[in-house]
Amino acid sequence: MDKFVIQGGNPLIGKVTISGSKNSALPILAATLLTPEECIIHRVPDLSDIRYMLEILKFLGAQVHYEKGTVRVKNKMINWIAPYDLVRKMRASICILGPLIARCGKARVSLPGGCVIGDRPIDLHISGLQKLGANIDIIKGDVVAQGGQLRGTTINLRGPYGSTVLGTDNVMMAACRSEGTTIIEGAACEPEVEDLAKFLVSMGAKISGIGSQRLIIEGVKELHGSEYTIITDRIEAGTFAVGAAMTKGDLFLEQAPVNHMTSVLGKLQDCGVTIQVEENGLRVSRSGPLKAFEIVTSSYPGFPTDMQAQFCAMATIACGKSKVVENIFPNRFMHISELKRLGANIELSKNEVHIYGTERLSGAPVMASDLRASAALVLAGLVADNTTEVHRVYHIDRGYERIDEKLLSVGAMIKRVYSKT
Ligand code: EPZ
Repeated sequence: MDKFVIQGGNPLIGKVTISGSKNSALPILAATLLTPEECIIHRVPDLSDIRYMLEILKFLGAQVHYEKGTVRVKNKMINWIAPYDLVRKMRASICILGPLIARCGKARVSLPGGCVIGDRPIDLHISGLQKLGANIDIIKGDVVAQGGQLRGTTINLRGPYGSTVLGTDNVMMAACRSEGTTIIEGAACEPEVEDLAKFLVSMGAKISGIGSQRLIIEGVKELHGSEYTIITDRIEAGTFAVGAAMTKGDLFLEQAPVNHMTSVLGKLQDCGVTIQVEENGLRVSRSGPLKAFEIVTSSYPGFPTDMQAQFCAMATIACGKSKVVENIFPNRFMHISELKRLGANIELSKNEVHIYGTERLSGAPVMASDLRASAALVLAGLVADNTTEVHRVYHIDRGYERIDEKLLSVGAMIKRVYSKT
């Protein structure tokens, strides 16, 4: 398993180009199952999660060609049973459930396991699809669905922790080819859900209320192929913005989706970070002290849970006591014990951490555990004294396109050490 060896102390200075959004690309690739015609998707980031999704589509019978960020995919004849060994590797593959039921009238997809950020239930996905008329059972760890003709209805997708992103995706995709009109109340309105809705409309779907918590979908008989460019990744951009803030750097984030980053950029400005919106991106720099802050994660447009770990890393060197409350995945704190190994002063209780900023962190070997926690450890390594080794960086490769090369290009002292194991 590869590791990163990071020598802390250099400011990040220069330009980074932000890649296409992973969390947009995955459901949009799944949505191509809804048509036998060719779809061409541009700005697809080269990530292991994307590769898994393409493998799943191929297993289902798709012709797939992926080159220089563009995927050409044609789902002519498809089978309806997803491969266990691939689905288990990537929880997000659950978003093939809705399109498979809509296209084939049936589906068999393994239940996504839990993961380090917590239990990952899909009760809202299942109840939403059942309301559309799908018969769904759990058999030997698989979700087994028989759809027949789906019929539109009103569905509320709000759960105990707010709306469900992939649940909204699944129900919206199935509703596009259901008979009649479906109203989704409490829909997730993350930019990635909006991007999927726009892609579906480009395929001939009839969806209104896009970007709101109330989606109205008029089912159509067929959907056609489409050529579409995915939005850029607000979480990758936010991660590099935090890197510039932590290292007292000056980064231009080319193609950063500024309009999708309001809560994160506002919080950075509160911390004393300079944010300048420019023609084709965003400039982030810091010269003064880094102020402590409070964040409470919530559904979009609130502060995103996917930026929580990175802000925890920043809080470890801010002046004063910061407070972070995690309301989406209450156990999403795998990064805390590893940050403490670097000398951070953190108190964790339930879904809340209090972080007391220190002068310096000191380098040490740390273990990546999930995608965003791993990014937080890399950020901490950029400012820690001496050397930090981040092990199991395959977690990072799932969601950040060549992050080591991008960091190297703006002055970070980071090296990927390949290992055969
Ligand atoms: C998506 O996951 C993202 N993944 C996650 O990003 C992101 O953290 C999450 O949305 C929240 O924004 C992709 O888009 C591929 P949810 P998703 O269903 O859809 C509960 C990353 O780092 N819930 O919106 O799986 C659930 O337990 C990843 O890029 C139910 O109770 O998340 C959680 O507490 C990590 N029942 C909350 O809702 C359900 O049926 C939000 O989960 C579904 C979810």
